[in-house]
Amino acid sequence: MRKLLALALLLLSPTLSWSLDQALEAKIGALLGRMTLEEKLGQLQQLGGPGTQPAPPNYSEAARKGRLGSVLTLLGSKNINELQKAALESRLKIPILFGFDVIHGYRTIFPMPLAEAASWEPSLAEKAAQIAAAEAYAAGVRWTFAPMVDIARDPRWGRIMEGSGEDPYLGSVFAAARVRGFQGTDYSEPGRLAACAKHWAAYGAAEAGRDYNTADVSERTLREVYFPPFKAAVDAGVATFMSAFNDLDGLPASANPWTLTQVLRKEWGFEGFVVSDYESIKELIKHGVAADAAGAALAALPAGVDMEMVSDTFMASVPTLVQQGELSMETVNEAVRRVLRIKMRLGLFERPFAEDLPEAETMKKPEYLAAAKEAADKSLVLLKNDGPTLPFTKDLKTLVVVGPLAADTTSMLGWWAGDGKPEDAITLLDGLRRKLPTASVKQFQGCDIDCLSDGGFAEAVEAAKSADAVVLALGESYTMSGEAASRSSIDLPGHQLELALAVLAAGKPTAVVLFNGRPMTLSKLHEKAPAILEAWFPGTMGGHSVADALFGDVNPGGKLPSTFPRNLGQVPLYYNHKNTGRPALNPTDRYLSKYIDSPNAPLYPFGWGLSYTTFALKDLSLDQKTIPPSGSIQASVTVENTGPVAGDEVVQLYIRDAVSSVSRPVRELKGFQRVTLKPGEQRRVGFALGPKELGAYDQEMRWKVEPGTFQVFAGTSSAGGLEASFDVLSK
Ligand code: NOJ
Repeated sequence: MRKLLALALLLLSPTLSWSLDQALEAKIGALLGRMTLEEKLGQLQQLGGPGTQPAPPNYSEAARKGRLGSVLTLLGSKNINELQKAALESRLKIPILFGFDVIHGYRTIFPMPLAEAASWEPSLAEKAAQIAAAEAYAAGVRWTFAPMVDIARDPRWGRIMEGSGEDPYLGSVFAAARVRGFQGTDYSEPGRLAACAKHWAAYGAAEAGRDYNTADVSERTLREVYFPPFKAAVDAGVATFMSAFNDLDGLPASANPWTLTQVLRKEWGFEGFVVSDYESIKELIKHGVAADAAGAALAALPAGVDMEMVSDTFMASVPTLVQQGELSMETVNEAVRRVLRIKMRLGLFERPFAEDLPEAETMKKPEYLAAAKEAADKSLVLLKNDGPTLPFTKDLKTLVVVGPLAADTTSMLGWWAGDGKPEDAITLLDGLRRKLPTASVKQFQGCDIDCLSDGGFAEAVEAAKSADAVVLALGESYTMSGEAASRSSIDLPGHQLELALAVLAAGKPTAVVLFNGRPMTLSKLHEKAPAILEAWFPGTMGGHSVADALFGDVNPGGKLPSTFPRNLGQVPLYYNHKNTGRPALNPTDRYLSKYIDSPNAPLYPFGWGLSYTTFALKDLSLDQKTIPPSGSIQASVTVENTGPVAGDEVVQLYIRDAVSSVSRPVRELKGFQRVTLKPGEQRRVGFALGPKELGAYDQEMRWKVEPGTFQVFAGTSSAGGLEASFDVLSK
């Protein structure tokens, strides 16, 4: 119906969106005009739900009085519909908006977001989000607190697993893809969710990688590094934003009018609403910027937070604040308008209830599992493969699998596993046994994740000695990353490294498979292990993907979205750093920007990843030598599969603005393309570079393309590659 109306309006009027918006705004205005202050505050209140249990009776009571606008984490259509029914018995019958953290899957769990970013294939992340939305929608969820688009340069921060890594360009492409995946082109359609870009802003810049910690970032770095994925989410039409826990330059994110109102709404034109993070408004008191609940509400609401998650400072204090003239009713109205706008755009008034369909019709459909398998295949990153050790031959008789992560179903899914069930997960051991039905596949845990005792080492080593090949399944448990899971060491936990070294000493063909939520420090392992495959937390189908990769049925082609340092002392370490006045080019010169006890270079750079075949890049060319500041240039490069089997390569294009009024990064990613090539096959890949890619903020924080020389690098990681250059003329 709505589509028909839109079509009719399109034919009648050239100002379609204006007409539709006006109609919607009029509807919102009319509803707002009928609301009491308590009902308005009800729309701004979100309460935490009990998961799969029914909502407590006081929730229904609040809903019936129109004092409950949203609930997070109430699952199952029965529970949801029961509470929704209460809301529809309220005076104005405004439905509740049910939200949930659908981060990388609802029931079918996809690889964790950082892993998906390692695929460098945004269409996969889009598909994953679409499937997650369909499953969550079927369970009554209408709003996801995703995508998480925080840039992270510090692997100690456990939440690095939830984002797309360190790069603003890669992060922006994935942010937009995920918004499209969750929302489609019209999130009122069944099977779609309203998305939420989080955590605004600079949550990933937490000092020392400690979760919830202070961030202090220059405006330039905010605008050039931390903001772009959020802007990409706005441009992709994201419905909502979440204000973060951290303070930034002295202002907590839930009380920052510059980020919430000036940048987000005035500069970027965001029309949706902002929800606070969990109790982050009440936490303004602990931050020390508010004395009490009233002070917290007064700091958050006018700054631009519209909905309060879990704490209730708005509900408790706004009536008095309005009465005393400290807060204007218009500020309250504006927040309510924004919330109602999204509820209406969602079609929540027309379809408030969850359909009660049988699980088999909605969850883990074969095509969903196939998509999860493909996503896991493509997010694998082959870090090292001497020999080559991998792929193993399928003819082997005895395979020994050692390590704490070979059969850990929960850790396959990762920290934000939605309503994923560990029993659905295919572990590495499951995958290997399925792959090698006639071989003897023996498992020896060796030790548990924390690996405090070496009691199980000897048995594992003995078994390894008589194996044809050995797989070491090492890494972190799912509790070691995600929220509130910062680590002060990013080594393999406990004595896992010792276990690995003992097993490697048996001298058998051995591959390490890593399951983990963050970049880790792997220098010693890298030195000793002939092959290392990064599997991340790969989701429901992960065990099949890894088994396929170990035996050559999948050729790994993922690339790191985040730098792997050699040692923690190098952190923060990221490829798009500045050159400094003393770049460390000459190892014998002491007075350079370097360490006296470690190289500057990482163990594995951003963009790194090997394959069972080899690729060569050649003939990097630019279609012009000079362009005006408003011009565009086309860079092209040929990629060839020079090895024995078909495989994927990610061609990466970086630029460097060699001379500028402000110092610029040594490299900035501006384009990439994942291509599949047969042995001997070549492809010419092109990248357009225009003002959007070439521009930057000048000294006055104005976006512009500065005249001068630009270098262009085409490579298969952020290190090395082919080089060309061109000049931007002054006019
Ligand atoms: C706190 C987390 O920071 C946020 O990402 C999440 O969406 C909310 N809790 C709700 O679970």
